[in-house]
Amino acid sequence: MKSLKYPADIPEDLLHLVPKRFDVIGDIAVVSIPAELKAHKISVAEYVASKRGNIRSVLNKVTKLEGDHRVAGFELLIGDSTLTTHSEFGFRYRMDLKDVFFNGRLSFERKRVASMVREGEDVLVPFCGVGPFAIPAATRGANVIALEKNPEACKWLAVNIRLNHVEDNISPVLADASCIGNLLKADFDRAIIPTPYGMDDFLGEVLPLVRRGGNLHFYTFKAREQIDDVIGNCSEMGLDVTGYRRCGNVAPGIGRWVFDMVKL
Ligand SMILES: C[S@@+](CC[C@H](N)C(=O)[O-])C[C@H]1O[C@@H](n2cnc3c(N)ncnc32)[C@H](O)[C@@H]1O
Repeated sequence: MKSLKYPADIPEDLLHLVPKRFDVIGDIAVVSIPAELKAHKISVAEYVASKRGNIRSVLNKVTKLEGDHRVAGFELLIGDSTLTTHSEFGFRYRMDLKDVFFNGRLSFERKRVASMVREGEDVLVPFCGVGPFAIPAATRGANVIALEKNPEACKWLAVNIRLNHVEDNISPVLADASCIGNLLKADFDRAIIPTPYGMDDFLGEVLPLVRRGGNLHFYTFKAREQIDDVIGNCSEMGLDVTGYRRCGNVAPGIGRWVFDMVKL
């Protein structure tokens, strides 16, 4: 399809509302179309699809991420499937977007963290979703325990483990992370914790499972002014923050931050 300059049939006074940004996961474009453009949403979807060569479906995000599984509500405006395969730095992730969380904007962060993983390490990845943190760690030669509560995400995790040939290096576990202390008795060398919003207390649950001198990568949603408090709290928990960085925006003034830490 030829790239369209504007969506067709949209009154000029509404053109400024046409989304300038959208995500592409596999061959699906995900866009949030404002309510004012409801009557023109197919035209907006065609415009979005025209911007990239490989778009087969266009999804309109109609609710925010909801519930424990962190899945948004979508309506399919173009195409006939929410199933796709996303490629990221040579890894492939198959998933059904109506059932699972996936954020392609974290690709660089996932690569950064995976690059620190050493062969033979025991790595824990709670909240692992369809595997984008766990699978790259496994390909570095680590032994990974990947834990996820959403049965659909866990199903796709199993598919992706095979797709990326890391069957020998990952054990997928379908479980609620709140039981982690009872479930696992291990001394992990590293924990990669892509914490869902509002579950920061979970850091305290994982900490006893990491050996002294082990590494943690803790993701949390914070305003910049809260960073000193996070560092202070982590230090009180016996963690040395060796680095931190913002790796995304989630709301005005609130970012997703990662803290790289060593357990003292
Ligand atoms: C923010 S998503 C991150 C997914 C994945 N790490 C990624 O980057 O694509 C959080 C994930 O944690 C899962 N989750 C939420 N609460 C959980 C819990 N109590 N125990 C285990 N998994 C949970 C959700 O189903 C979701 O897949």
